[in-house]
Amino acid sequence: MTAKDGKRWNHNIHYHPRILAAVPEGARDALDVGCGEGTLARELRRRVARVTGIDRDAVSIGHARAHPGDIEYVLDDFLTHPFEPASFDVVASVATLHHMDAVAGLERMRGLLRPGGMLAVVGLARGSMPKDLPREVVTMAVSTYLRATRGHWQHPSPTVWPPPLTYSQVREVAAEVLPGSEFRRHLLWRYSVLWRKPRG
Ligand SMILES: C[S@@+](CC[C@H](N)C(=O)[O-])C[C@H]1O[C@@H](n2cnc3c(N)ncnc32)[C@H](O)[C@@H]1O
Repeated sequence: MTAKDGKRWNHNIHYHPRILAAVPEGARDALDVGCGEGTLARELRRRVARVTGIDRDAVSIGHARAHPGDIEYVLDDFLTHPFEPASFDVVASVATLHHMDAVAGLERMRGLLRPGGMLAVVGLARGSMPKDLPREVVTMAVSTYLRATRGHWQHPSPTVWPPPLTYSQVREVAAEVLPGSEFRRHLLWRYSVLWRKPRG
């Protein structure tokens, strides 16, 4: 189901602007990790000349490749695929980091970035009950409203639930692997991590 304006909406797509706004000026190569059927990869391609999407799910990659365009879609495991180190200006990922060991995933993303490149992750983590109950009530209300007004598009890719790490644990991992990174917890059951790889 899509919104009246024809645009797809779900909790992942809601946070795509956070990633797209982080794309550095002059970025030439972008990688979408766990690209699924390629919605984010196609949005990145409007800003970046060369976009690669990788996913280990054949059904997702099949959907992605069915779209016209010049994005390269790789069917493989991101953690082991033989990408050239430091070969991307943008490494982005949505709703995928919790499918793998977070330290290994972030370290691999860090290693694939060129100096000055941007890592932009939107992910899922576990809340802490009962502390998060008031927040959960607000989130449910806002999510219900947005679903009713925007429609909810169900992506065709594999999911993992519950996420293994809490928000605090992801924040700690990000601070350890990506010193100076910006971690934000968002309302709709998502967090984001932005990190610019130092030059030199
Ligand atoms: C919940 S889906 C999200 C898909 C897409 N990013 C989106 O927002 O609709 C997570 C995706 O990550 C992929 N994935 C998980 N671990 C992976 C890995 N190690 N290498 C490549 N893809 C992986 C899964 O196959 C799945 O398609």
